[in-house]
Amino acid sequence: MGEGTKPAGGLPVINMVGERVALGPLQRDLLPSYQRWVNDFHTLRTLGLRPAPLTLEAETAWYDGQGDSSTITFTVYERSTWRPVGNTGLHAVDHRNRSAVFGILIGEPDARGRGYGTETARLMLDYAFTALGLHSVMLSCFAYNLAGHRAYTKAGFKEIGRRRQCRSMGGRLWDEILMDCLATEFESPVLGKVFVPDGPRG
Ligand SMILES: CC(C)(COP(=O)(O)OP(=O)(O)OC[C@H]1O[C@@H](n2cnc3c(N)ncnc32)[C@H](O)[C@@H]1OP(=O)(O)O)[C@@H](O)C(=O)NCCC(=O)NCCS
Repeated sequence: MGEGTKPAGGLPVINMVGERVALGPLQRDLLPSYQRWVNDFHTLRTLGLRPAPLTLEAETAWYDGQGDSSTITFTVYERSTWRPVGNTGLHAVDHRNRSAVFGILIGEPDARGRGYGTETARLMLDYAFTALGLHSVMLSCFAYNLAGHRAYTKAGFKEIGRRRQCRSMGGRLWDEILMDCLATEFESPVLGKVFVPDGPRG
């Protein structure tokens, strides 16, 4: 399917559109995809979740718990096909201190390594700073997650510290890397053109 071609069921509901990906609300009918993504042990290798079977009931309970105002989660769509390829979210959203924690999962293996993670991280920073007015967004990634570390760096995150040797993988212990980005260090790619006051007519 070419760029901009409509999928059979029409376009999904979308909040933000980038060059390669678009972000929209979670959708109940996508629960089987969400569940499939978090049952892929290769994907879980670089996530904080324990590698264990996760039932559709457990995934549905996660979905039903998403109304909480401290967590804001999106579906990531590939723009060229409009297929859902992952989830991303802000967690621990704290409006008093203007901070949040970023998370991401590009669940379709063939959608990785195409710049989608980088652009998703950038769109989520834009959302956090421009739409929500937050000031500090943090993430953590394991030191062996080279794709993640590179994608986050390209999106605008900087390393701020490490929890040493707290993650076992491939027979050795690895650091957990903490990264952050501040609103003052970030230039809005999309929403800066959306969240503007009306000008007078004529
Ligand atoms: C981590 C993740 C979000 C990255 O998203 P992605 O779409 O694959 O990443 P991108 O294509 O935007 O960027 C990856 C970058 O890392 C580079 N990269 C990939 N593997 C690499 C490796 N082994 N060594 C060095 N660089 C590597 C790519 O070349 C690319 O950089 P470039 O654009 O300069 O060439 C995605 O792979 C994912 O969701 N993985 C599974 C779950 C997960 O790890 N979630 C995040 C937990 S912190």
